[in-house]
Amino acid sequence: MARNYFIAGNWKMHKTRGEAASLAKELVAALKDGKHKYLVAPSFTALETVAEIVKGSNILLGAQNCAPEEQGAHTGEVSVLQLKDVGVQTIILGHSERRHIYKEDDALINIKVRLALKHGFDVILCVGELLEEREAGKAEAVCKRQTVEGLKDVAAADISRVTIAYEPVWAIGTGKTATPEDADAIHAYIRKVIGELYGAGAAEKIIIQYGGSVKPDNAAALMAKENIDGALVGGAALKADTFVPIAKF
Ligand code: 13P
Repeated sequence: MARNYFIAGNWKMHKTRGEAASLAKELVAALKDGKHKYLVAPSFTALETVAEIVKGSNILLGAQNCAPEEQGAHTGEVSVLQLKDVGVQTIILGHSERRHIYKEDDALINIKVRLALKHGFDVILCVGELLEEREAGKAEAVCKRQTVEGLKDVAAADISRVTIAYEPVWAIGTGKTATPEDADAIHAYIRKVIGELYGAGAAEKIIIQYGGSVKPDNAAALMAKENIDGALVGGAALKADTFVPIAKF
């Protein structure tokens, strides 16, 4: 496969600075000979600490969200300018927890995607259906809508800085993984949607990660699929013992 695997750890709302520093140090040491592309996304409060540790390593620094504005009266938000200042390279946007707990819609996510790209960040755009949507046969339609709306007005020149993460909501933190076949089918479909939007070359190149209960014992089978180009890992990313085997699957 011409595409490079991209394994990312989303630490969600876990870890103090000290805990984040310990994990980051373990990962820098353990992954220095790793062959894939790597990223960790700590909480905002630990970004600066982790930035110092991963600097010069093969691990990129990600943020889990950003505000839809550059600056201003937005109590509780964190801006792209502030993220750039601490050394963030990539921003995860549209995570299902942002969509479903914090009610972010496709239009808001699209504003954030365009703002992040405008400021030179790479973006991981998360898409994925709820269990009831899957059971109603709407998984593809939901992923298509989230992909098309999330990328609305994103220029062709910028699509190379976008990774898509397919995270079926029913598989996140539940221990239920999509089968490699089911995940691959949706990945292939998302790739087709990218082809319709940006052409065959972009579709072939775009990295599509799978997320949802990725563990050391299921990573290799998922990654073996033609259209699965990496993983966005939650729970198993919180310990080197479980993240490193995934990262080196
Ligand atoms: P889990 O790996 O804990 O299921 O979380 C997946 C996820 O949401 C990563 O962004």
